[in-house]
Amino acid sequence: MTIREAMNKASIQLKINKIDSPKLKARLLMQFILNQKRQYLMVYDEKKLTQAQEEKYFKAIEKLIKGIPLQHITHQQEFMKMNFYVNQDVLIPRPDTEVLVEEVIQIAKKINAKKILDLCTGSGAIAVSLAKYIEGSQITATDISEDALTIAEINAKNNGVDKQIAFLPSDLFEDLPKEKYDIIVSNPPYIKKEIIKMLDREVQEEPHIALDGGYDGLDFYRKIIHQAYEFLKYKGYLCLEIGYDQKIDVIELIEKEEKYVDTYAKKDLYGNDRVVVTKIS
Ligand SMILES: C[S@@+](CC[C@H](N)C(=O)[O-])C[C@H]1O[C@@H](n2cnc3c(N)ncnc32)[C@H](O)[C@@H]1O
Repeated sequence: MTIREAMNKASIQLKINKIDSPKLKARLLMQFILNQKRQYLMVYDEKKLTQAQEEKYFKAIEKLIKGIPLQHITHQQEFMKMNFYVNQDVLIPRPDTEVLVEEVIQIAKKINAKKILDLCTGSGAIAVSLAKYIEGSQITATDISEDALTIAEINAKNNGVDKQIAFLPSDLFEDLPKEKYDIIVSNPPYIKKEIIKMLDREVQEEPHIALDGGYDGLDFYRKIIHQAYEFLKYKGYLCLEIGYDQKIDVIELIEKEEKYVDTYAKKDLYGNDRVVVTKIS
């Protein structure tokens, strides 16, 4: 079977099984199996696959049909123009989170912030990106999952920023030394407990500890907003990713604390509310 024939067959199988973006996934998986760029597939689409390549490819297609995310097969996800290793221990970094990272980079440049705390770091997507794009920054990255922290450390090393990041296991602020930061950033779990089982099969494959935000999805915001000011320098910033329908609730939590000012929200590329920023008064 040629590369083109295999990709056509695979994308039909994916489509029949209601896997979204079938053509794209069939192509990305072929690139992964052959360890080649897209251009190679275009130039050599009439090249015959070996028996072993064909078997490996269609075994991987089977996994996609079972609902395994593409990134759990390829162990790769691009984020902020960098490559991140991912597995079942971490949330696959989402493009939406780049809006949060871009905002933190802008704030850091404006106030010359260097000391940044990333709570709930997961794969390290946020911490690694900030270390890469904010010169001289010193990041502390925490997660309750030691398995996630292992992956975050791999990503820091692979992207050449491991010297700028300290990784600490901690239940939010619980086990952190009492230091003060210029900026605290977090993309915490924020899905309502009841909703999780209704999400796509692929999302179900991700760690529930990375998704579960309690009965109303706001558990982590309550705790972070209540405690962050103890860890922020005077006029320090708190920057949070939020669910598309959580802006009003999160801003209300911030206002209830009476410690923050200049709160604003930002939308993602699809026009959904995605980020809330506030500042210590
Ligand atoms: C939504 S994921 C975010 C991962 C990463 N920051 C990103 O944006 O791709 C949330 C992360 O919070 C971690 N987490 C869950 N409960 C926690 C807790 N009590 N304290 C610290 N981290 C926690 C999970 O292990 C998971 O890695």
